[in-house]
Amino acid sequence: MPDLSGAQIEPLSGSLGAEVSNLDLRNDLDDETVAALRSLLLEKLVLVFPDQALSADEQRTLMGRFGEIEKHPERPQVLADSDEEVVIIAPSGGVSAVWHCDYQPDFLPCGICSLNMVRCAADGGGDTIFVNAYRIYESFSPRMRTFLDGLTAIHRNTGNAGRLRDEAHYPLVGIHPETGRRGLFYSAHHVQDFVELLPEESALLLARLQELTQKPGFALRYHWRPGAVALWDNRAVQHFVVPDFEGDRLLYQVTVSGDLLAPVPEYEAPAEAELPAAVSEIAPR
Ligand SMILES: [Fe+2]
Repeated sequence: MPDLSGAQIEPLSGSLGAEVSNLDLRNDLDDETVAALRSLLLEKLVLVFPDQALSADEQRTLMGRFGEIEKHPERPQVLADSDEEVVIIAPSGGVSAVWHCDYQPDFLPCGICSLNMVRCAADGGGDTIFVNAYRIYESFSPRMRTFLDGLTAIHRNTGNAGRLRDEAHYPLVGIHPETGRRGLFYSAHHVQDFVELLPEESALLLARLQELTQKPGFALRYHWRPGAVALWDNRAVQHFVVPDFEGDRLLYQVTVSGDLLAPVPEYEAPAEAELPAAVSEIAPR
């Protein structure tokens, strides 16, 4: 694990996530600490910092250390005086009780996302579940992975008014620009088919992906406390808000951009010899 002297780092599940305590994010973090946090984030995919109680401006300052902050003019609940950089997440804005990744207004995926829990729901509900997309990919057989490597997922906007486009095509599998690791960029709520497949074939694959996305063994369920801040690598995880609360809660969201997963360079279509023999060539038994 990267050196974060003084901070305590505890894994949050076997698949992904770590809690980092004893580190005040309001302090002017030095470059070494930011680099260590980034490397920990790329390894664990989700980092949670309890008891921070950051203001929206402090959250912007923090996220500015991780990249270029994205503006979200398309979101109806942008915090006033935040240069369209802070989005208010509240029950009245809708709960994302679907598996998804977050997107920018032009429908590019966000790079690193952050949520800052200002006020929890009084009944204790509203956990966020994160799932490790690397693990989903790695759970397929090598032959299936080769098949997935050549697919292009069609992402469709599902009701977010104000986006600059409603459809985008991204490789389903790609090379992570920072880790070099091969992973799956997939958003269950937004992907309904694949360029290279028939609709019936897309449906089969999507059903399997959905099944894997919901596997508890690939997931982290995080129970929020007021003042906690969570960061995640949006290119390698999907998330889901458990809709089991009523009433008021308040979070701030700030995101930074990041490069997309690059297509797998060595992908080659299977050679003729690997294709199944035509039915007529199979001798009856
Ligand atoms: Fe989200």
